[in-house]
Amino acid sequence: MNVRVFRTSEEAAHAAASAVAAQLRRKPGSKLGLPTGRTSLAVYDELVRLHEAGAADFSRAHTFNVDEFVGLSCRHPRSFCSFMEQHLFGRINLPPAHVHFLNGGTQDHDEECRRFEGEIAGLGGLDLLLLGIGGNAHIGFNEPGRSLRPRSHRTRLALETRRANAPLFDGRLQAVPREALTMGIGTMLDARAIVLIATGRSKARAVGSMFAGRLSTDQPASLLQLHRSVEVLLDLPAAEKLPESGFDAEA
Ligand code: GLP
Repeated sequence: MNVRVFRTSEEAAHAAASAVAAQLRRKPGSKLGLPTGRTSLAVYDELVRLHEAGAADFSRAHTFNVDEFVGLSCRHPRSFCSFMEQHLFGRINLPPAHVHFLNGGTQDHDEECRRFEGEIAGLGGLDLLLLGIGGNAHIGFNEPGRSLRPRSHRTRLALETRRANAPLFDGRLQAVPREALTMGIGTMLDARAIVLIATGRSKARAVGSMFAGRLSTDQPASLLQLHRSVEVLLDLPAAEKLPESGFDAEA
């Protein structure tokens, strides 16, 4: 894994946006996997800026978001789908037909997950997967547990994760759905390249688990060690628990 540590979260976000823009320049028809969450906001703002500056053309790209709450359709204002529309899709030139989401509003979740996997495979797989990370080392909504599932599936959310997502629901924990649909770890590992961004001290422990030299389903992000092209972008607080101090902040 290649690690880059930046002095500020903003610099880390800019590096993530640059990686996406560079991917689009290399291959305009790239298939991108995308996260939601607070960390991604600065990345999407920078991508919009790059788009407006003519440095990021999404007209031939396809996007696949990694997760969605069960029970929330794309029209629901609290859905991750609405989040993406508000913070990225509505501000760039990505054709609406090129947006791919796990629809949390469907009745048959297994069928929805199969459909989503089929769309990824049908378009040739993900070229670049951008990920955030949960404080408990979840990626997408693959939560810590005794086992992990390789392909997209319905999952129960950890209490810690529901608490972390409460701000999206006006701080009301009871309003945060208890289940979600998520891209599976195997589908993530099938991506040709992965860029993970983590900022803030609350992510330091989870980030450390990716560099501990052990694979554990209790630390889902640790499985990224199996991938041959992962770039980890951190600010200084998120880098606090890296094994040795061999990672200096970029000037
Ligand atoms: C959320 C999302 C993930 C995201 C992670 C980090 O719950 N399901 O896709 O990467 O947790 O979120 P944040 O950036 O808000 O800390």
